[in-house]
Amino acid sequence: MSGGVLVIIPTYNESESLPGVLERLRHAVPDAHVLVADDNSPDGTGALADALAAKDDHIHVLHRAGKEGLGKAYLAGFAWGLERGYDVIVEMDADGSHRPEELPRLLAQIPHADVVLGSRWVPGGSVVNWPASRRVLSQGGSLYTRLALGIPTRDATGGYRAYRASALRALDLGTVESNGYCFQIDLLWRALQRGLVVREVPITFVEREAGTSKMSGRIVREALLNVARWGASYRWGQVSGRR
Ligand code: GDD
Ligand code: MN
Repeated sequence: MSGGVLVIIPTYNESESLPGVLERLRHAVPDAHVLVADDNSPDGTGALADALAAKDDHIHVLHRAGKEGLGKAYLAGFAWGLERGYDVIVEMDADGSHRPEELPRLLAQIPHADVVLGSRWVPGGSVVNWPASRRVLSQGGSLYTRLALGIPTRDATGGYRAYRASALRALDLGTVESNGYCFQIDLLWRALQRGLVVREVPITFVEREAGTSKMSGRIVREALLNVARWGASYRWGQVSGRR
């Protein structure tokens, strides 16, 4: 494989949602390849993905030993895709929240940006079927991140993204340690610090109809702590004259 788009879909217990999302994606962007990165889901998502891959040469599966978190699954997927020479690597949730039909709009910005973020919190973006509590958490999380890091990005935690392969290569992925949804903030912060061009494109995020969210208190705490740490370290660099 040389060139082209690879969509990475991390999965943990997504057997109800995955087939529909794959079908929609294959229809919406027929040339794109897909890599399902499954953490040995107890519900058999991995075997289901294998069965779909056997019938479609654009679908690939990466089996991981156990549940290690979203970040680790993506890092393994990025390495898989970079080794194979894809030009553009996309992150997409398996539960239908990131509508495959919107992917062409994200990809359309890749000639103009290193990283394209599907954004819920820019004009034109929205969330369907989220309780107020989740909305507050997401918007509050992005506001906190913007203030702590001094960045303009409206949706810092979103996980519907397209990266140029060259951008991923520039991010020193070997040193990424954050693993929950904080992984998304981490990669954004790395991109901005390196002066890469980041663009937000409005998306409609539709809450899942089947299965359950893997969001947890631990994931929120990891994000709060890491963002505070990164912000402090950046400011310290400024006031100590090293930046
Ligand atoms: N392989 C693997 N391992 N996949 C995982 C793991 C894991 O440990 N944890 C979560 N996932 C997968 C889920 O199966 C799903 O495909 C995707 O990651 C997102 O998980 P959800 O649990 O559905 O996340 P959410 O709805 O709370 O979404 C929020 O965080 C996402 C992650 O960045 C939203 O802000 C999304 O926009 C965002 O992508
Ligand atoms: Mn979800």
